[in-house]
Amino acid sequence: MSIQIPRGTQDILPGTVEKWQYIEEKAKEICKLYNYKEIRTPMFEHTELFLRGVGDTTDIVQKEMYSFEDRGGRSITLRPEGTASAVRSFVENKLYGNPQQPTKLFYIGPMFRYERPQAGRFRQFVQFGVEALGSNDPSIDAEVIALAVDLYKSLGLKNLKVVINSLGDKESRDAHRQALVNHFKPRITEFCGDCQSRLEKNPLRILDCKKDRDHELMGTAPSILEYLNDESKQYFDKVVKFLSDLGIQYEIDANLVRGLDYYYHTAFEIMSTSEGFGSITTLCGGGRYNGLVQEIGGPETPGIGFALSIERLLSAMEAENVSFPFEDKIDCYVVALGEEAKEASVKVLYDLRKAGIVAEKDYQDKKLKAQFKAADRLQASYTVVFGDDELNKGVVSVKTMETGEQEEVSFSELVTYISEKKSGER
Ligand code: HAM
Repeated sequence: MSIQIPRGTQDILPGTVEKWQYIEEKAKEICKLYNYKEIRTPMFEHTELFLRGVGDTTDIVQKEMYSFEDRGGRSITLRPEGTASAVRSFVENKLYGNPQQPTKLFYIGPMFRYERPQAGRFRQFVQFGVEALGSNDPSIDAEVIALAVDLYKSLGLKNLKVVINSLGDKESRDAHRQALVNHFKPRITEFCGDCQSRLEKNPLRILDCKKDRDHELMGTAPSILEYLNDESKQYFDKVVKFLSDLGIQYEIDANLVRGLDYYYHTAFEIMSTSEGFGSITTLCGGGRYNGLVQEIGGPETPGIGFALSIERLLSAMEAENVSFPFEDKIDCYVVALGEEAKEASVKVLYDLRKAGIVAEKDYQDKKLKAQFKAADRLQASYTVVFGDDELNKGVVSVKTMETGEQEEVSFSELVTYISEKKSGER
């Protein structure tokens, strides 16, 4: 039996890969506008990083990591997300020492989670994410949300919903935590095993449980927004005010808790509201993670960021029937007939390409008709034709496919002729 691709992964073939490249370019353009710089970190890290960074009571750490022992006996994990790695690198490379702060980073790369594959959920997926480290200014919370919204809009998406919440600072979170314990404890035996162990370790996670989400205690659970202290409340008010100033519509959802442990204050998600998008509607998630840098061994530094997967972005574009504004065509197809002409075509092609002309020829000894067919299939704008006779006379025939116009051009002028045609000078 032939070997098949692992479950939850996908091949991105020519024809589709151009869409990915287009999205990645857009993301990079927007990061340039907002002054976020690219960072590339390894695809695997010491497992310890994610235990500490993502949190050992999260589903990601408990159930979804690709961890293995390497030949040196170290526990290694394929990164399930990018924030912990970005923070590790920030600390290890002392980026906090750079005079220009906050440190504004972005990344695009594959992440790995052993999840049950379904629409929008892969085991290897590509995240685009940004992280801003070193600022406690609520305007940067609004900035990262605006950046994500801008990216989606620049790609043509319209059916978006920004959902935001505040998880408060440590004091607020602790007060809320206690209220959650008091709320769930008397009836915790009615909940799943996971929730029972979450009760003492991290009761906020109970609100995110998929199995028990219909339990009556879920709807009546104390809301974090009631436990925000004044400082946390003021912070949150400023973030949403900035969003309003930027014209970004949002909904406040006190039940938004996110699946990672490192969040304080702002937490947000961007959802697709397209009909038929499927059951997983979250396109993007992020928030503020004051405390994470210290957890990973660095100086006290606040941070905020988000990540979104290109897979879900593409599905959202499909659901909204958004088209890509690029064409997949070549400039010039070289048809050579006869032995000598075929040999000469190698150099002709090389010269065209050196001049920035996208050029192709036949490599399979095809007949004339089949070569013209290939030129059509590749949507060549020009077809250059010559045989041994023309080669001896030093001329080629150039056909402009759109108009059908045909001209005889000398060999030495071919590159200039096509360049000028292409740029509209001729
Ligand atoms: P997350 O919510 O775990 O957050 O993931 C962020 C986004 O990654 C999701 O909204 C979704 O678009 C995509 N995603 C996650 N899992 C999958 C999957 N199995 N298949 C396809 N797409 C997926 C984080 O990863 C945080 N590091 C975000 C962050 C950055 N917070 C602060 N900075």
